[in-house]
Amino acid sequence: MGAYKFSSLLLLSFFAFAVLAPSIRAHIGEFDEVWQKRAEEAQKAALEAYQPNPEEVTNQFNKNVRKSMQGTNTTRRNLRSNNGPCMATNPIDRCWRCKQDWAKNRKKLADCVLGFGRRTTGGKDGEFYVVTDASDNDMIDPKPGTLRHAVIQKEPLWIIFARDMIIRLKQELIMAGNKTIDGRGANVHIAYGCGITIQFVKNIIIHNLHIHDIVPAQGGMIRDSVDHYGLRTASDGDGVSIFGSSNVWVDHLSMSNCKDGLVDVIMASTAITISNCHFTNHNEVMLFGGSNNFQGDKIMQVTVAFNHYGRGLVQRMPRCRYGFVHVVNNDYTHWLMYAIGGSQNPTIISQGNRFIAPPNMACKEVTKRDYASPDEWKSWTWISQGDLLQNGAFFVQSGDPKKKHPFTRYDMIKAKPGTFVNRLTRFSGSLGCKVNQPC
Ligand SMILES: *[C@@H]1O[C@H](CO)[C@@H](O)[C@H](O)[C@H]1NC(C)=O
Ligand SMILES: *[C@@H]1O[C@H](CO)[C@@H](O)[C@H](O)[C@H]1NC(C)=O
Repeated sequence: MGAYKFSSLLLLSFFAFAVLAPSIRAHIGEFDEVWQKRAEEAQKAALEAYQPNPEEVTNQFNKNVRKSMQGTNTTRRNLRSNNGPCMATNPIDRCWRCKQDWAKNRKKLADCVLGFGRRTTGGKDGEFYVVTDASDNDMIDPKPGTLRHAVIQKEPLWIIFARDMIIRLKQELIMAGNKTIDGRGANVHIAYGCGITIQFVKNIIIHNLHIHDIVPAQGGMIRDSVDHYGLRTASDGDGVSIFGSSNVWVDHLSMSNCKDGLVDVIMASTAITISNCHFTNHNEVMLFGGSNNFQGDKIMQVTVAFNHYGRGLVQRMPRCRYGFVHVVNNDYTHWLMYAIGGSQNPTIISQGNRFIAPPNMACKEVTKRDYASPDEWKSWTWISQGDLLQNGAFFVQSGDPKKKHPFTRYDMIKAKPGTFVNRLTRFSGSLGCKVNQPC
C-alpha cells in the first residue's frame, strides 16, 4: 500500500519532468524531435527500472557478499598490488576474474553486476567492436575504428581496444544505448580532454579504464547516433555523467582529477551500480541528484560498492538528493571535508564501510547535511550499520527509528567490517589484464 502510493507519486513527478525537460536543456543546444523522443523513451525505461522495494535489492546484495566471504580468511594483509596469484575478493569480481581464458569469455562480465544496476547487460547481445585508433578529430563523422564511432552505433556492441592508448576526447563522448566499453587487455586512458556522457539512454557498462584530467569544452556540433547530430552547449568536465539514464554499471575505473565530478548521476537516472573503482585527487567526487528543485530524482536508486575512496579526495562520496543510495563495503581512507552528504531527504544506507577520518579535528564527521535544520533532517533516513569508524570518524544517523532497522531480518554481514573492506576493495581500479593470463 505504502509502496504503491509512493510510486504513483513518482509517476506524477515524472510527467512533470517530461514537461520540464526541454527547458532544462541538458547541454543539448537544440532540444529537437530526436532528443525529445530519446528523453521520453529514457524516462519510460527508468520508470520500469525503478524498484518500489529497494530494501529487497540491498538484501540480495548482502546475501551475495556473505556467500562470497564464506570460508575466506579475513586476516590477510593490506596489499593493493596485482602481483602474485590472482585473487578475486568480492562477489562481483569472483563471478568473472582469475580465469585464464577471460579474453575468450569477455561477455561473462555482463552476468556479474549486483545491486540496483543488476539488470545491465550492455553490449552483450552484440558484436565486438575493436577500437584501433586513439584519435578523435571529427565530431560529426567520426572515423571508423575510433571510440566515438563505436559508441554512436545503433546496435548493441561490446567495445574493446586493440592496444594501449590515451584517448583525448575533443568533446564529450555521447553514447547510444546497449554498449559495453571494456578496457581489459589494454591500458586505456581517457584523459586530458572531455569525458563520457550517458544521456537519455539505457543499458551501459563502462569497465576497466583510467579516466582522469577531464576538462570542460565549449560545445558545438556533435554526433550522438548514426542518424543524428546536433548542437551541444559547453560540457562541464565530468568523468562520467549519467543523465536521465537507467541500467548503468560502472566498474573497475581508476579516476582522478576531473574539472567537475568524477561520476555524476542526475536527472532521474536509476538502476545504477558503481563498483570496484579507485578514486583519488579530486574535490567533488560524486553528485547524485543535481538540483534541489528536481523531484524527479526520487526515482534514483544507486548502489555504491567495493570502491576505494583514496588519497586527495575532498567531499561528495557521494552527495545525494532525493534518491535511495546503498553505500556498501567501500573503503574511505582519506577525505578532507566529509565523505557522504546530501540535502532534500535522500535515503542513505551505509553498511560495512570503513571510514578513516582525516587528522583535522573539524572534519571527523562522515556525514554532512545541507540546507536543512536538524528539525528538518532528523526525519531523513541516513543509517550506518556495521561501518568501521576509525581515527575519530563519526556518522550522524537520522530517521524514523522504526525505519532504522529495515534489514535486521535480512542476511547481514556480521564479521569485522574493517577487515572485510580492506580485502573486498583490494583490487579496485583498472586491472592490468593480459590475454592468456588470469585477470
Ligand atoms: C587464516 O589465516 C591464519 C593465519 O595466517 C591461518 O592460521 C588459518 O589457517 C587461515 N584460515 C583459513 C580458513 O584459511
Ligand atoms: C537495446 O536492446 C534491447 C534488447 O535487445 C532493445 O529492445 C532496445 O531497442 C535496444 N535499445 C537501443 C537504444 O538500441
